[in-house]
Amino acid sequence: MTHQVRAVVARGKGAPVSLETIIVPDPGPGEALVKIEACGVCHTDLHYREGGINDDFPFLLGHEAAGVVESVGEGVTDVAPGDFVILNWRAVCGQCRACLRGESWYCFNTHNAKQKMTLLDGTELSPALGIGAFAEKTLVAAGQCTKVDPTASAAAAGLLGCGVMAGIGAAINTGKVGRGDSVAVIGCGGVGVAAIAGANLAGAAKVIAVDIDDRKLETAEKLGATHTVNSKENDAVEAIRELTGGHGADVVIEAVGRPETYKQAFYARDLAGTVVLVGVPTPEMKLELPLLDVFGRGGSLKSSWYGDCLPSRDFPMLIDLYLQGRLDLDAFVTETIALDEVEKAFERMHHGDVLRSVVVL
Ligand code: APR
Ligand code: ZN
Ligand code: ZN
Repeated sequence: MTHQVRAVVARGKGAPVSLETIIVPDPGPGEALVKIEACGVCHTDLHYREGGINDDFPFLLGHEAAGVVESVGEGVTDVAPGDFVILNWRAVCGQCRACLRGESWYCFNTHNAKQKMTLLDGTELSPALGIGAFAEKTLVAAGQCTKVDPTASAAAAGLLGCGVMAGIGAAINTGKVGRGDSVAVIGCGGVGVAAIAGANLAGAAKVIAVDIDDRKLETAEKLGATHTVNSKENDAVEAIRELTGGHGADVVIEAVGRPETYKQAFYARDLAGTVVLVGVPTPEMKLELPLLDVFGRGGSLKSSWYGDCLPSRDFPMLIDLYLQGRLDLDAFVTETIALDEVEKAFERMHHGDVLRSVVVL
């Protein structure tokens, strides 16, 4: 059997997205059909639409999603129809060296659903990040589904599927922020403020938010920043040093992805501190550093992949903290919109006053 559902499709480079009817097959072996309840609008969706990821148009956009499993294919035991799940980008293999070490965010053999969703004329769709959840239903590998407490709001829960998990994970998993630490977060978009929330969860004593936009700094304060620095008006490194007794922060999280902010992060850490890179640069970006500075600083320099998260461990835990009122995921939901308003949400993204627009179905 197949299902005809409404979905947001990017047909060609730079062209506005359109709401279309698509065909979703019933789940095959190892797959799950998920009825989507909510899906956040992320910069990566816009990137796909602009051809910045690859040229496999048409794309089925949307990847920060939560919903209810409608049916599962042969051999699926981890999730069952009726489960409320958060989707993640990739099912891991469980058998490669990375998986066996318990670091499955480095898995070499990740996969998505094998069957293709199509347009009505049979054209195969490429689901963004292997998900494609701006749709009433989508088909994923069952391993992309993580069951969480169904009393959580779907709009808030779905955000853990990407940017918010990347930020929280950069702080708690990659940076291993500890009680009493000083933490600086450079770049306070969705990812950066999530890192601020994560630093607070971990018990940081000082959380310094850095951005060039005062509105972002206001949001950062709402999510728990204890200090803010506008780096357009101040030298970020000096300001962070000053706020940390001249030492630099124990953990510096870079959530922009540009050479100048990578450099700030490098120099703003304590000699024994940790730099966590979560902002993704473009291929042509370069940074030159005196080798003596590279050698002369101890500590560590790490990049964070999807918050170095284990969905099966981190999603249910963070949802529980959310339901206990200890993690304000609702604060990330600036507005809820309908499926046909994704294009408008892309436009609003550049205005700087939106953390996340979330499609609620
Ligand atoms: N210094 C400080 N902050 C900056 C600078 C700068 N030079 N340039 C931009 N910013 C701020 C912006 O004002 C904005 O608040 O960085 C923030 C970036 O936020 P978003 O564009 O909302 O991006 P976000 O979704 O948070 O992702 C940030 O993390 O995972 C990666 O791919 C993602 O590279 C991206 C980064
Ligand atoms: Zn995303
Ligand atoms: Zn693996």
